[in-house]
Amino acid sequence: MRILILGGDGYVGWPMACFLTEKGHDVGIVDCFLRRELVKQVNVESIIPVYDIYQKQSIFKKKYKKALWFKFCNIEREYNKLVDALNEFSPEIIIHLAEIPSAVYSIKNAYTSSFVAKNNIIGTLNLLNAMKRVCGKVHLITLGNVIDDSVDNFGYLTKIYTQRSIELACKMWKFRATTLKTGSIYGTILTDKQLKTRLDVDEFFGTVINRFCAQAVAKLAITPFGKGDRKIAVISLKNVIQAISVIIQNTEKKGVGYCEFNYVDEICDLLTLADRCCAVSKELGIDVKVRCVENPRIENELNWDGFVLNELEKFNYKSSGNMVDELRILIAELLANNKKIQQFSRRLVPEVHWDRRRERVRFL
Ligand SMILES: NC(=O)c1ccc[n+]([C@@H]2O[C@H](COP(=O)([O-])OP(=O)(O)OC[C@H]3O[C@@H](n4cnc5c(N)ncnc54)[C@H](O)[C@@H]3O)[C@@H](O)[C@H]2O)c1
Repeated sequence: MRILILGGDGYVGWPMACFLTEKGHDVGIVDCFLRRELVKQVNVESIIPVYDIYQKQSIFKKKYKKALWFKFCNIEREYNKLVDALNEFSPEIIIHLAEIPSAVYSIKNAYTSSFVAKNNIIGTLNLLNAMKRVCGKVHLITLGNVIDDSVDNFGYLTKIYTQRSIELACKMWKFRATTLKTGSIYGTILTDKQLKTRLDVDEFFGTVINRFCAQAVAKLAITPFGKGDRKIAVISLKNVIQAISVIIQNTEKKGVGYCEFNYVDEICDLLTLADRCCAVSKELGIDVKVRCVENPRIENELNWDGFVLNELEKFNYKSSGNMVDELRILIAELLANNKKIQQFSRRLVPEVHWDRRRERVRFL
């Protein structure tokens, strides 16, 4: 199938492009490198070096014997270019990942709050309108968050707006769309050096497990927030990619309309996650401790009663692998880039508080 990934230069989008190509699909990418820019803006870098898209395209072609179609387009600012991209690539499926995923960045200051809202909401509205004009019959797939009824930051709130806009478009314009609702994504995918996906571990763009593992490699304490008793949903990058591929395979003949599936590996408290990162680090020769720090966030209670982890079971899909194996791969990759972690080690401890104070969190 012809699959267009919006946000295909990102953490999830890039390995997804490679995976779907391996499965035989024709893949195209639209991106404006916003993630690369924002990461620079907060003075950090991806710990795993990321090649630019043109270098990646050339290695991709050698490896998969197929060209990777790419268009530079900011979907929030360049509506006409987005329309052209849909016309030129003619997708049967669009995977929309072109959003800013960071809760912390969305809370940082007045500028970042409205920047995230504008980017995510208008970008998605542009996409829906461009689809209406060019390709109303494609299947639109997006990644959402499982906790959307107890959202506690501006960034995640934009996700609710965009999901509801997609649902509305399905009703009004007879679109077909599926949202995979998932948790905090961690880990990396082993592949050729030039085709690796980014890995951010700073407080703005690093997800919790990726940050814990980087703290271990930097030989800092691993720092769950508060008492570490908050339970969150987590999933490996590998499993998210596989889950989207399962949606593609099983919804090919589905009619119009909107549907959502929950899919996470597990619900787990922060202290247990920190202990696991600590244990695997020790096994790899890193001596590190877990120490709780004050919680810089003002968070709502999460209620997981009755939550179904894997709604893709109806397609007979069960996830593979386990967290310890994924952590081994992740920590080994981080160790291989230890120099860079040392360079940014100050950035591994949060400073942005939800009440807008800016000071390093203290140990409890
Ligand atoms: N990472 C997670 O833990 C997680 C969890 C649940 C859901 N999600 C969702 O998955 C999606 C992808 O997340 P990610 O972690 O890969 O983020 P990412 O920032 O690495 O990837 C997003 C990509 O989209 C691009 N982009 C953003 N705005 C754009 C615009 N206006 N025009 C063109 N390109 C644009 C960025 O440059 C980037 O390459 C997001 O929608 C996010 O909310 C992520």
